[in-house]
Amino acid sequence: MAVLEARNVWKVFRSGTVEVPALRGVNLGVGQGEFVAIMGPSGSGKSTLLHLLGGLDTPSQGEILVEGNDLATLSDNQRTVLRRTRIGFVFQTFNLLPPLTAEENVMFPLLLGEMPAREARRRALDQLTQVGLAGRRTHFPSQLSGGEQQRVAIARALVIDPVLVIADEPTGALDSENGRLLLDLLQRLVAEQGHTLLIVTHDPNVAARAHRIIHLRDGQVEPDLPGAPHPDPAELAYAGASSSETAVPRADSPDFAGMKKQRGQNQGNGVDPGPLLARELP
Ligand SMILES: Nc1ncnc2c1ncn2[C@@H]1O[C@H](COP(=O)(O)OP(=O)(O)OP(=O)(O)O)[C@@H](O)[C@H]1O
Ligand SMILES: [Mg+2]
Repeated sequence: MAVLEARNVWKVFRSGTVEVPALRGVNLGVGQGEFVAIMGPSGSGKSTLLHLLGGLDTPSQGEILVEGNDLATLSDNQRTVLRRTRIGFVFQTFNLLPPLTAEENVMFPLLLGEMPAREARRRALDQLTQVGLAGRRTHFPSQLSGGEQQRVAIARALVIDPVLVIADEPTGALDSENGRLLLDLLQRLVAEQGHTLLIVTHDPNVAARAHRIIHLRDGQVEPDLPGAPHPDPAELAYAGASSSETAVPRADSPDFAGMKKQRGQNQGNGVDPGPLLARELP
């Protein structure tokens, strides 16, 4: 089954009398375990598409299905719960909550789902260990390098055990070496944990690792180009999709000790921590 499907998706932004058609009839399908890169010029609609696919915004026309659920048929509440439990987001600017420690940031989506704090803390620490940051769990985002903050953001995205990980230029704010290490880690964890990865990138080296590259131009999908060799084409659930959990080759273990410091990039990120912050975290 396709984890994600877009059918004739349009998005038209209106400001006053001006209409901007950001997406113009996009169709795509992404299968379980697939790693898909989205590329295209600035303004071609990449971020808009990710927002729609992740249920952060609604299309002007067309359908988006996550695990077969048409997002338009869900209530706002149901859509929020689906987003919180099934989709992990990684943004270019990390979007960590500044007043929370690394561990609390990773616990956050679990606490929103009302998981008991003890269990949430255990899972958060486990994910922080996976990204090599257990020793930094009590640090605040401002005390972490850019690469470290993005690793916390990856832990936060994966801790919910999402079916789909959506990343919008996740290496865009990092230097090339840190970007490569970050991507090694993301790709390895996503493959090990059996997630599907959809990533927007301008970096051809990032896209070259994907099973499939979707090119957007002026809000439309250009014909597919082949990505990295795929081990199991016979199981395609949809054009180019696979159900294999071993689809992504295991990357070399990244040497995070060598990650360079990139301090001070993420002071205040506009994320509303919501009512949870009104009470003390456990
Ligand atoms: N909220 C909005 N209101 C009006 N127009 C918008 C809005 N968001 C995006 N657009 C327009 O939609 C088009 C697509 O924008 P989008 O952010 O999806 O591009 P992108 O491919 O992600 O570009 P970049 O590579 O620069 O991030 C652009 O023309 C943009 O100006
Ligand atoms: Mg964008």
